[in-house]
Amino acid sequence: MIDNEPRGHLALDLVRVTEVAALAAAQFMGTGDKNAGDQAAVNAMRAALGVLVMDGKIITGEGEKDHAPMLYAGEIVGNGNPPEVDLAVDPVEGTNLLALGRGNAISVIALTRRGGMWDPGPSLYMKKLVVDKRARNVIDINESPAENLRRIAAALDRPVKKLTVFVLDKPRHANLIRQIRRVGARVSLQTDGDVAGALQAAIPGTGVDVLMGIGGTPEGIITAAAVKALGGELQAQCAPQSDAEAARVRAALGANWHTVLTADDLITADDAFFAATGITDGPLLEGVHFDRPGGVTTHSMVIRAKTGTIRYIKAIHQSQKMSRVRDGIWQT
Ligand code: FBP
Repeated sequence: MIDNEPRGHLALDLVRVTEVAALAAAQFMGTGDKNAGDQAAVNAMRAALGVLVMDGKIITGEGEKDHAPMLYAGEIVGNGNPPEVDLAVDPVEGTNLLALGRGNAISVIALTRRGGMWDPGPSLYMKKLVVDKRARNVIDINESPAENLRRIAAALDRPVKKLTVFVLDKPRHANLIRQIRRVGARVSLQTDGDVAGALQAAIPGTGVDVLMGIGGTPEGIITAAAVKALGGELQAQCAPQSDAEAARVRAALGANWHTVLTADDLITADDAFFAATGITDGPLLEGVHFDRPGGVTTHSMVIRAKTGTIRYIKAIHQSQKMSRVRDGIWQT
């Protein structure tokens, strides 16, 4: 019988994929050229995925909304042998952060068995609400931010003013930010990177308690895999940001386009794998450092939904042993 279930070792294989993407991208930190860093990471990730033992299909490869380099939806990756799996990838989550030399750019990937991941079709933006496991079952994205914060504060046994909410610093969030501030909660405004923000919200004790606001849909699916594995809660809703996107989303999803989606709706498989490697330094993961005495260092995390185990992996890469392959990609 052919074994078609993704096994635990795939988790570690995925870390090697985000590591090489991060190593490739980090060379472009602070260059001001966000496409160059993204393209290098896409090339590296594509090459690293190509040698994995799997029959993989990209369900969502972030990059479409910004017309950025990408692994495209429907692209087949892996060496073609079982297991059949679906992937959501973001070789550089935070391309501007990378280009400007700011913290919190990461390389991320999520994997499930074939058919285990929601296909976002033309949806580019989603409204998201993310909390950790202590506030599971109390949130409702259809309620006001004030009501959600009141419920989360009760679940965490803390006053609302001691909650920190991660929000992307975008004009569309002006009203949301006002509402959060009105009830006294603290706002952590970040220009980019809501996957990292959601990870912080889903892991207790990171300094962020909640993620609120509208961000990318592919990022939402990748986030769902992590949140499912961490046991937190994510609620999301398509939130088109243009008439053209709204028309495409309505045509694809029909009358239910506005349905609230949970992590279990976005990741329908029981098991899911999530891996991330820091590109620039952030609160959860250190970035790539080229200047460490023992070699080039990367910091990654990998989580599997079935077990909930979080592994943090520090790798020291021996630059003299890294063989340069096509397109300047480092193969570790
Ligand atoms: P990129 O890496 O594609 O630039 O995404 C960064 C990001 O900030 C995501 O974290 C977020 O989900 C999305 O962009 C928000 O999109 P926009 O910048 O168009 O509001």
